[in-house]
Amino acid sequence: MTPHINAQTGDFAETVLMPGDPLRAKYIAETYLENVREVTNVRNVLGFTGEYKGKPLSVMAHGMGMPSISIYAHELINFYGVKQLIRVGSCGGVDEELKLRDLIVATSASTNSAMIRDRFAGYDYAAAPDFELLKACSEAAKELDLSPRFGNILSGDLFYGSNPALLPAMQKMGVLAVEMEAAALFAIAAEFRVKALCVLTVSDHLITAEETSSEERQTSFNQMMELALETAYA
Ligand code: ADE
Repeated sequence: MTPHINAQTGDFAETVLMPGDPLRAKYIAETYLENVREVTNVRNVLGFTGEYKGKPLSVMAHGMGMPSISIYAHELINFYGVKQLIRVGSCGGVDEELKLRDLIVATSASTNSAMIRDRFAGYDYAAAPDFELLKACSEAAKELDLSPRFGNILSGDLFYGSNPALLPAMQKMGVLAVEMEAAALFAIAAEFRVKALCVLTVSDHLITAEETSSEERQTSFNQMMELALETAYA
């Protein structure tokens, strides 16, 4: 047990899918996995282990923001032997070509957080996912006839009240979308030599100010989950 996870050693599979929301973790476990059991529930941050197509797989929520995902990713990797962490979440579109519900796979994550620099002697670390997972994801997308956008995203510290200069800077530098966790996940995975990936759906758009309805979110969520599950299964 750790301060934030009350599972026993061996309760987690080597691959963990991580949505932000604990009830999403429950939904994923109940909808997509077989022989599922709840393995942790500290603070209602739920985690489950089951099987996907006969292969062990876990799903655990990571909460909101980089401090939260950093705690869970650190403990999963260092105390439960987790080797692959795949974040499945939502993001705000920045690129004008993106439409609501589009899928994004992060090939790198910029950030306005100081957390990554803290790990890197004050310099700018290039937070990126694992290449093998990225390749598996690209192949899974072709098999599933999905066309995600692959590119740089930004993991922001603030959902409300970001520096107004940030949006034009993201547009100038070709950042596709903004979310709040991937850069921290990629940096932790790199430090402890495990694999990480981040798959997202566009839930709102920063330029057009459109937002998805809850039904629309569910359809795009199912596509993202199929992509993440097939990537994990590869
Ligand atoms: N996740 C979904 N939409 C977001 C936004 N607009 N900013 C940050 N994270 C998000």
